[in-house]
Amino acid sequence: MKLRAVYPLIIGFVFVPAGFLLTVGILMLVLGKAARDYVFGGVILGLVVTTILGTAAVLVVLSREARVARLQTDFVNKVSHDLRTPLTSIRMFVETMQMGRLPDPARQAEALSIIAAETTRLSGLINRLLDWARMESGKRSYQLEPVAVSDVLDDALAALEPLLLQEPAEVSCRVTPGLPPVRADRAALADALTNLLHNAHKYTGARKRIAVSATRQGGIVTISVADNGPGIALPDQKRIFDKFYRAKDPLDRTIEGSGLGLAMVQHIVEAHGGRVTVQSTPGEGATFSIHLPVAGSTP
Ligand SMILES: Nc1ncnc2c1ncn2[C@@H]1O[C@H](COP(=O)(O)OP(=O)(O)OP(=O)(O)O)[C@@H](O)[C@H]1O
Ligand SMILES: [Mg+2]
Repeated sequence: MKLRAVYPLIIGFVFVPAGFLLTVGILMLVLGKAARDYVFGGVILGLVVTTILGTAAVLVVLSREARVARLQTDFVNKVSHDLRTPLTSIRMFVETMQMGRLPDPARQAEALSIIAAETTRLSGLINRLLDWARMESGKRSYQLEPVAVSDVLDDALAALEPLLLQEPAEVSCRVTPGLPPVRADRAALADALTNLLHNAHKYTGARKRIAVSATRQGGIVTISVADNGPGIALPDQKRIFDKFYRAKDPLDRTIEGSGLGLAMVQHIVEAHGGRVTVQSTPGEGATFSIHLPVAGSTP
């Protein structure tokens, strides 16, 4: 359990009763005897109310922690599985080659390219876990400076290219002319946007259409990624930004993922003084938007 989660309990059980008793003590010293009965009555009522509210707070904190713990256990099981699967196939291919059972150079080349792809997948997963660990422990630092939105979009769209080679999609990008720079860490913001683009690509079925746009309303620049995928059910929309959370849709479960992408996007965007939102009508795609303050404006 994180120390921050205990703060409401300390406030509810220590500071509120202590402040309450202190006030009562002062009142009893100041008031006459008859008024003290009222004060005693008030003390008892106050303590009962504090106990009820405190118990409710404990229940809320504990159930939230229990949910995170459950997701964490699922996640560890899933990650162990995700790490074991590529390792098994790498070991299998290497052993087969060591035993000389793949004499054909074409089959050897095929096996090597599978080994290379599995290794890339493994290191991608491990990098993601390390990145998240750095964010959670507050060790991820950001170099914020004025950055052109179009540069960030170029970086993120370039990172989408390898996926487009595997499965093509119609990608459009519309940037309002004369958009002011935002105060950002270019690499981190491009990472956040890449996560949204990857989601738009992987959760959308055939005939993928991804529309990226950047607009401005007053002191806020909004970068949006819209897709024509299955969309997200309303109850899931509230939870998909939680770490490890993956929507319950059985189709989503067949798609590889660790449930960390959107939690990372939210972490990065909030470190930039911005926020990330989702709009979706199930069956009609989803639009994720990153809202950031214009460089030089106060958020
Ligand atoms: N564009 C989208 N369309 C439909 N569902 C989405 C979309 N983006 C995210 N989701 C849902 O939100 C969940 C959480 O997404 P998130 O990016 O955090 O994790 P992930 O994609 O499962 O794994 P990771 O990004 O860590 O590889 C996904 O499992 C999916 O169910
Ligand atoms: Mg994702």
